[in-house]
Amino acid sequence: MPSFDLISDLHLDFWIRPTWNPFSSAHKLQRMLAAIVPAAPSDVLVIAGDLGHDNKQNARFVRRLAEVYSHIVVVLGNHDYYVQTAAQRSAYRLRSELRVAEMKKLLERIPNVSLLDGDCVKVDGVTYGGCSMWYDFQYGIQVLNRHYRQLYEHWMRRSNDARFVLGSAPGWLEELVREQKRKLRSVVGQADVIVTHVAPDWSVVPEGRELEPETSCYFFDGKPYYADAAGKVWCYGHVHRRSDYARHGCRFVNGALGYPAEANGAVKPAMRIVFGE
Ligand SMILES: [Fe+2]
Repeated sequence: MPSFDLISDLHLDFWIRPTWNPFSSAHKLQRMLAAIVPAAPSDVLVIAGDLGHDNKQNARFVRRLAEVYSHIVVVLGNHDYYVQTAAQRSAYRLRSELRVAEMKKLLERIPNVSLLDGDCVKVDGVTYGGCSMWYDFQYGIQVLNRHYRQLYEHWMRRSNDARFVLGSAPGWLEELVREQKRKLRSVVGQADVIVTHVAPDWSVVPEGRELEPETSCYFFDGKPYYADAAGKVWCYGHVHRRSDYARHGCRFVNGALGYPAEANGAVKPAMRIVFGE
């Protein structure tokens, strides 16, 4: 039966402080790698977003993983768009899209890595298709009966995404959501394994978070895609809670690692997902 390993939300720079000198963090990256790769790894690793805030460190780590796996499938997460430090603001000219473009270029140089951004890749007869996806506030609108404007203003005040995802034009969030939905639509029918960073099904809101407006920033409305996803596996992250369950005829899997504080400082290995007949 086909299988792959799944991880997301590595937030690498929270585990290993980035440094300009790759040799000084080499042993830490190696230790992290040893903890993430399961004892009997699959041939394919899926990374469902949020590698970390430092492109070069992210790329160094993925390059090491690519020595273990014969293929790696990646989508970027919201944190992979962040432009935070003064050095980043200057290097990327206050534009997240330039950071994303650099990350894509760094990953393209690793031969057995596919970054999915509205694309599919076929590996050993299995088609993986995906994109980052972005929350559309529909959880707040449909479940909490809030207005879009209210949720948007709350997001503007409270969310790090609003502070660190830097766009060049007003309304970039709405445009990003529209663009990501177009990309997802273009792959969901052909993919056997769908990969998004943001969660497509809000029936598993973590306990105690059901009434919080912030919960709207973890999900998008997956209903328009469920019919095409039936019988398939849908990998996601963003919610730092692992899960593996069936709903809407689809198997949803979340292999998030999360921040060191959430994991008591212990790196969990990637989840092994076996699927098909
Ligand atoms: Fe995230």
